[in-house]
Amino acid sequence: MINIDIKNSGSYTVKIGSGLLDTIGEEIKVLGKVSKVCIVTDSNVSDLYGGRVSENIKAAGFDTCNFVFPFGEQSKNLNVYRDLVEMLCENRFTRSDLIVALGGGVVGDLAGFAAATFQRGIRYIQVPTTLLAAVDSSVGGKTAVDLTNGKNQVGCFYQPSLVLCDPDTLATLPEEQYRCGCAEVIKYAILRSREFYDDLMKLPASEQLEHVISTCVEMKKLYVQEDEFDTGARMFLNLGHTIGHAVETLSSYTTLHGQAVAIGMASIARSAVHNGICSEKTLSDILAILEKYGLPTENPYPAADIIKVMLSDKKLIGGNLNLIVPEEIGKCKIVAVKTEELERWVGF
Ligand code: NAD
Ligand code: GLY
Repeated sequence: MINIDIKNSGSYTVKIGSGLLDTIGEEIKVLGKVSKVCIVTDSNVSDLYGGRVSENIKAAGFDTCNFVFPFGEQSKNLNVYRDLVEMLCENRFTRSDLIVALGGGVVGDLAGFAAATFQRGIRYIQVPTTLLAAVDSSVGGKTAVDLTNGKNQVGCFYQPSLVLCDPDTLATLPEEQYRCGCAEVIKYAILRSREFYDDLMKLPASEQLEHVISTCVEMKKLYVQEDEFDTGARMFLNLGHTIGHAVETLSSYTTLHGQAVAIGMASIARSAVHNGICSEKTLSDILAILEKYGLPTENPYPAADIIKVMLSDKKLIGGNLNLIVPEEIGKCKIVAVKTEELERWVGF
């Protein structure tokens, strides 16, 4: 088992290891002063792991209730949030009780937001069951729900009390979801480590999950400890996301998030060559790893359409848009691009 301590406004440990799913009850005991536990999960994860987790927590002596909602991003909304907090209230949850977020990023974001706001904040633990949640969304305390016209429009920073990541749960993940998680894993390698890139090229991520998850969490830790509230260094985690988000939007979300991030990383690497920031070799290394993990690398949309979406949903800072640009594998930089110069940067 690997433990990674994160020191933020709320400090917590990320535990990564096979079999951890069956230790939740004991881990909750260690947190102290909990009597009731609400397990928040989606319909898919509930069928796979809900009963097992619930039994484990009951066996440790806690009263439990389950809040299960239909899987998918369309459930990450104010209506489901409201049902959840109403249920906590009906079941007389108090500030000393606990929420367990069992699932992917949708569960984690929604349950985390409910935890942050119910009675002005009750504790929650993240139990990620997707690769994306394990390497990204369960760490760092970003919580949110979507509004009709925008993702993550209502939310806050609220740190979990513990993250328990059991890589065995990823065995049931659909192939497409696994690949989407791999896009985020590859992002960390491009951001910070040639050695990690080589590890991922040598052996599939699925065959070295503990190493992969812990390496990514160690890297995310550096950004979130330096910049908990996302005003500076944390921006690096947007590598591939600015163009990627435009691709996702233009596809009406038929291109999945991880696929769009892969296209975004390929596209910004091509622009980096065009603008003299990275070499052809770095570009071909980036394309090679994305292709090896079955991720798309071609942007099907015209630059003008991408730019329109980028300008409509990203905050401009002093008239500039910040893009995260690879210089080499393991090293990226922030480039502030004026809106009138975006065409030189987008559409490759
Ligand atoms: P998700 O939670 O929708 O999970 C993807 C699918 O996998 C769902 O259908 C789910 O039911 C299923 N699933 C989950 N675990 C499974 C398992 N072990 N076996 C089989 N099926 C399983 O999606 P996601 O990709 O995990 O997360 C995406 C969400 O995360 C988005 O809402 C995004 O905004 C958010 N996000 C948040 C942060 C953050 O820092 N808070 C970071 C990145 C993404
Ligand atoms: N997923 C990006 C962040 O946590 O800031």
